[in-house]
Amino acid sequence: MASAKNIILVTGASSGIGLELVHVLAQQSPSFHVLLGSRSIDKGNKVLDNLRSLYASALQSSISVLQIDVTDQKSITAAKEEVETKFGRLDILVNNAGIIVTRPMDTLSILRETFETNTFGAAIVTETFEPLLKKSSNPRLVYVSSDQGSISHRLDPNYQWVKIRGDPYRMSKAALNMLAACHRHNFAEWGCKVCAFNPGFSLTNLTGEAGRAMRIQYGARDPMDAAEALVKIIIGERDSEFDISGMLDLDGGVLPW
Ligand SMILES: NC(=O)c1ccc[n+]([C@@H]2O[C@H](COP(=O)([O-])OP(=O)(O)OC[C@H]3O[C@@H](n4cnc5c(N)ncnc54)[C@H](OP(=O)(O)O)[C@@H]3O)[C@@H](O)[C@H]2O)c1
Repeated sequence: MASAKNIILVTGASSGIGLELVHVLAQQSPSFHVLLGSRSIDKGNKVLDNLRSLYASALQSSISVLQIDVTDQKSITAAKEEVETKFGRLDILVNNAGIIVTRPMDTLSILRETFETNTFGAAIVTETFEPLLKKSSNPRLVYVSSDQGSISHRLDPNYQWVKIRGDPYRMSKAALNMLAACHRHNFAEWGCKVCAFNPGFSLTNLTGEAGRAMRIQYGARDPMDAAEALVKIIIGERDSEFDISGMLDLDGGVLPW
């Protein structure tokens, strides 16, 4: 059961930044076994088939699909039990799954749906996998947050995205940042390194098909940039920044909470 490889779980790896992270690991990192977290097992399997056909014998990491819906405790518990049975531990957890609600709804419904995934989901995934992280010799926990969740930026009149509203999303990421800060403090005693990460404005499916056109128009970056920055964090290249208060930014440096 014990694997010499680092076992990494990426939630929401069926699309966007999570998927790009799996691509980078697949191409560069033979020392990982990647658990490609997907709420739809069919979508996850299609993604994995595509990765295998793209990289064929050049595939470096080993990869398997793990069904995990971060809003469903049963799904999270089943995922944890599967990882425990197959690997006995988890070395790196990347809480990446996230949403922006674009359907017209009343404010309370938007807040509930947004927080269920972006904040509560990340919290219960970590809580459920904590015992497996504790079995790692070098545990690491990354929260994919957003500069939109920075309270300091929200109040800065010169901030690039000052005119964007998105209050529920901003609130969910600000709360996620507090979760990351709590876990950085709480988990230090068993040696778990914890950070929040800002992947920057990226060309993904976060705001749906219509949103992709808007993202291109406003200069969204290739999600590969965020994925490559995440790899640096995962392999320990930015450990010295973990003690600084704030979110690790994709281009280096730390953004204020
Ligand atoms: N793109 C940006 O500009 C940007 C900027 C700052 C922060 N972020 C953050 O980056 C992270 C990744 O987003 P992205 O931009 O890559 O968007 P994306 O392309 O929409 O990917 C989001 C991923 O999360 C998954 N997901 C959504 N709800 C889930 C649930 N309940 N359980 C499990 N997985 C779920 C999606 O699964 P399905 O494929 O099944 O939908 C998808 O794989 C998010 O946390 C987002 O807030 C993005």
